[in-house]
Amino acid sequence: MGHAPVQEIVEQAMTTHKGLAAWVGEVAALTLPDHIRWVDGSVEEQALLTDHLVAEGTLTRLNPELFPNSFAAFSDPKDVARVEGRTFICSENERDAGFTNNWMDPAAMKDILNEKFAGSMRGRTMFVIPFVMGPLDAEDPKFGVEITDSAYVVASMRIMANIGTDVLRKMEDTNAFFVPALHSVGAPLAPGEADVAWPCNEEKWIVHFPEERSIFSFGSGYGGNALLGKKCFALRIASVMARDEGWLAEHMLILKLTSPADKTYHVAAAFPSACGKTNLALLEPTLPGWKAETLGDDINWMRFGKEGELRAVNPEAGLFGVAPGTGWHTNPNAMAAISKGNSIFTNVALTDDGGVWWEGMTKEVPTHLTDWQGNDWTPESDRPAAHPNSRFCTPIDQVDMLSKDYFNPEGVEINAILFGGRRKTTIPLVTQARDWTHGIFMGSTLSSETTAAATGAVGVVRRDPMAMLPFIGYDAGDYLKHWIDLSAKADQARLPKIFLVNWFRRTADGGFAWPGFGENTRVLKWVVDRIEGTAEAVETPIGFVPAVGSLDLTGLDVSPADLADALRVEPSEWESELAGIQEWYARFGDSLPEQLAEELKDLKARFGA
Ligand code: GDP
Ligand code: PGA
Ligand code: MN
Ligand code: MN
Repeated sequence: MGHAPVQEIVEQAMTTHKGLAAWVGEVAALTLPDHIRWVDGSVEEQALLTDHLVAEGTLTRLNPELFPNSFAAFSDPKDVARVEGRTFICSENERDAGFTNNWMDPAAMKDILNEKFAGSMRGRTMFVIPFVMGPLDAEDPKFGVEITDSAYVVASMRIMANIGTDVLRKMEDTNAFFVPALHSVGAPLAPGEADVAWPCNEEKWIVHFPEERSIFSFGSGYGGNALLGKKCFALRIASVMARDEGWLAEHMLILKLTSPADKTYHVAAAFPSACGKTNLALLEPTLPGWKAETLGDDINWMRFGKEGELRAVNPEAGLFGVAPGTGWHTNPNAMAAISKGNSIFTNVALTDDGGVWWEGMTKEVPTHLTDWQGNDWTPESDRPAAHPNSRFCTPIDQVDMLSKDYFNPEGVEINAILFGGRRKTTIPLVTQARDWTHGIFMGSTLSSETTAAATGAVGVVRRDPMAMLPFIGYDAGDYLKHWIDLSAKADQARLPKIFLVNWFRRTADGGFAWPGFGENTRVLKWVVDRIEGTAEAVETPIGFVPAVGSLDLTGLDVSPADLADALRVEPSEWESELAGIQEWYARFGDSLPEQLAEELKDLKARFGA
């Protein structure tokens, strides 16, 4: 691929940014790659990299008539999801990592990492990827540089973030601070040793140093562990920057809605991984006259503007979406974006004509596939064809419904915040918070069944505050306090209204009580009508739920019994829920903000408990 030898390039100093040049030199001296390549972010470079990955067997080129310039990758079966148990926040003081994070003394961790990374890039090329999260023309652009020994990571980062020479030049012009993010798959090659299609290491380390604002990722090639601009920077490290600088880094989609009255609203929604963000962000409205536009599907950086309004930007450039369940009947907008090509799929199944397939893509199941592990697959097979956490990685500007405000560094004003999880029971379809602090309480006690997005058991209910449990880069109580303190800066009249939603409640026969997907438009309409003060609600101990007739069900085929199941506030279910919340709050110890302890007391009182 025409790389120059390590020494040569380091001595050439490919950048005038002294801090960066020094760091690249240090990393090369530690990891001992055969070559170094400075990533320029060009189309030509992407073609070179993907050609190389096809030749190496890491990528399979898809049929260009079906998916132009698109590829499938198949990971090691033990490297398919984020590894929360191997993720660390190494703050100086253990207290600052809080009870929700793994912690280790930073000096002790540095010793481990130095040992792991020593020689870890032998036989490989080390890529230097300058990137920016959020707009390059922001007042204070958030730069990072990922060094990685994975070309798959480079090709994916080019989709997910703004990378390359333009970014580097801007960093140099302002001698900007950047977050150093070092990644290695942890699979050095001995001279002459053949590579495998998906190199990785049994041992994985995803480590953050919040004070230093640095990231180290070892042993995994999977997106959430290896594309370091995303979860590691834009959530964990950014949440710490946000705490210190007075803003919010959140695990939220951003959606623009235009009502039939031609009024616009922006909704942010925090749902845990694999709980419906990408689908809601690409909503196809089912009510006439409503228009939806996408701004973001996973990460939302928010700050209060000059007029005390809450403004949001999406720091990412791509979608890294859950493939299973994404289909022409559930999410046609995602399907259209993917079909334009320029995508990397990971752990999906291959069709015999060189396309991709996953459970839920089409109603009709293909009669023969190659599954994500390379085996023949037929509808009789007793395992899924695609891994449940298989993903598509696609540029966001291929979304037809992308709002032009996506490109606006000022962001958009948020009018409503939804917190939501995946709960078979207890949590109604939609509940409006009594006020802002009660809304933060709802977010702080959010719960959801675990999914395949992270390794470990699936379907276990856990608390996931603001859907940020795996992503808060500091003490969880301090994080909640930051939410409360920050809103003092707001124009109180312009604070977003807060709602708790649950698309996943089940009926007695096990089916979903609510049809979901496009039909969630009806819930959004109720949200908008509540903002306008035109929808009726019933006050319950947990907040305001839709009054009979206030949800627009025009043209929807849902039985009254199912609807009642979806909306019910069941005291017996809430009895155990209250116990669960109480237990959760006890874990915060002293760091639980008193306003939230008060909210719990009030909630219990409203239940007469
Ligand atoms: P994200 O990881 O939070 O972005 O979630 P996705 O939007 O990718 O969805 C995760 C999974 O939940 C996919 O399998 C979707 O098909 C499914 N899903 C998303 N929205 C809904 C919904 O409204 N109802 C139901 N039943 N499933 C949904
Ligand atoms: P998701 O993104 O939230 O769309 O699943 C990946 C993740 O959170 O791991
Ligand atoms: Mn996510
Ligand atoms: Mn998503």
